[in-house]
Amino acid sequence: MALRRQTVLLAPSLLSADPGALGDAVRAAEAGGADAFHIDVMDGHFVPNISFGPSWVKAVRERTRLPLDIHLMIENPDRYLEKFSRAGGSTLVFHAEATKEPDEIIRMARSSGAAVGIAIRPETPVATIEPLLGRIDELIVMSVHPGFSGQAFLPGSVPKILEARASIDREKFSVELSVDGGITVETARSAVAAGATFLVCGNSVFAHGTVPENLAALRNATELGRRERSEVR
Ligand code: DX5
Ligand code: ZN
Repeated sequence: MALRRQTVLLAPSLLSADPGALGDAVRAAEAGGADAFHIDVMDGHFVPNISFGPSWVKAVRERTRLPLDIHLMIENPDRYLEKFSRAGGSTLVFHAEATKEPDEIIRMARSSGAAVGIAIRPETPVATIEPLLGRIDELIVMSVHPGFSGQAFLPGSVPKILEARASIDREKFSVELSVDGGITVETARSAVAAGATFLVCGNSVFAHGTVPENLAALRNATELGRRERSEVR
């Protein structure tokens, strides 16, 4: 079944929040209209950075009832699925490049009780994960090289979002199409116009201004993108 929801979901990425005040960031974003939280898990091997582990996810879980989108930028994701699910992760998203046995990871993630997603790096073609679309709940198209927030959206991402949208629609799969990296009011609009239904927003929510104003501006941009999309169809 295809996703029928009209609105695009906004998921603030806690990597961009002040690490000393994560609880405040969660409260501000939830009050400001966030739909979910995105938590970046990095192991210093799959990406050259280290970030949150299961205890952080648990702490966030204790402060919000919104869905937690867990982005596993780690090698051997199979070893940690159960831990992140038990900590309160709603969707466990592993990287296509991190495993040779995606079917097995999908099976394990699902049996942990969580929803399942796959993320692809900018250089990984959509075709690589196409055969798996019927078995997952979310596809994250990375629009920056994973590892750090605050990078610029790679322009080659728009054709990839279009391609992913077409693949999902062709089979009427119920897959959230997420875009992660460099989302601003401008790129939010083009990502949604290309077919994204879920935007991960780090610096555009937490690095300047106020969280509610930033979320309102992004929400408005997604509306413009949605209109653009319905005009071209
Ligand atoms: C990058 C992470 C992103 C990042 C997004 O590797 O996966 O989730 O935090 O941050 P911005 O929106 O600032 O690019
Ligand atoms: Zn991420």
